Amino acid sequence: MQIVKLVTTEEEKKLAFQVRLKVFVEEQGVPEHIELDEHDQTAAHFIVQEDNQIIAAARVREIEEGVAKVERVCVLKEHRGKHLGILIMKHVEQYAKEQGWHKLKLHAQSYAIPFYEKLDYVVTSPEFLDAYIPHRAMEKNI
Ligand SMILES: CC(C)(COP(=O)(O)OP(=O)(O)OC[C@H]1O[C@@H](n2cnc3c(N)ncnc32)[C@H](O)[C@@H]1OP(=O)(O)O)[C@@H](O)C(=O)NCCC(=O)NCCS
Repeated sequence: MQIVKLVTTEEEKKLAFQVRLKVFVEEQGVPEHIELDEHDQTAAHFIVQEDNQIIAAARVREIEEGVAKVERVCVLKEHRGKHLGILIMKHVEQYAKEQGWHKLKLHAQSYAIPFYEKLDYVVTSPEFLDAYIPHRAMEKNI
């Protein structure tokens, strides 16, 4: 049974960072100084817990009035394909609505575009490189 939590303690935030380091730094080769950044202090963080393990994470932050950016969406490799990505995104979207935000933006790694399309995000930019990885901007009105 998986539970999605809005992070409320420094301890939980560290657990979110551990998932991100495993996925983005170890698996995808993103430099650690890019992966963990200053926005981690202000963003809302989410984690998925299964038994006693944290297996997925994401963060969201307002970037302009009513518009927020979803970032660092990740599921540990061995837990992918179980709709946990969808699960955490739904919680992020619910939280965003509760904040009164009306639009969510994100930079999707190009290979993950079909995942975000399942959630009704649409592509809004040509491909660009971020941390050496091809991305495209996407967004959704909520
Ligand atoms: C992208 C990611 C978060 C998806 O998480 P996940 O838990 O495996 O995805 P889900 O099981 O919730 O997938 C939901 C749906 O999207 C589809 N989907 C997921 N990833 C996909 C992909 N790369 N290509 C095509 N379809 C994909 C699934 O098949 C599923 O479809 P269904 O509803 O018809 O069964 C995960 O692959 C991941 O953590 N990747 C590494 C980190 C990363 O690249 N994050 C994205 C940064 S922008």
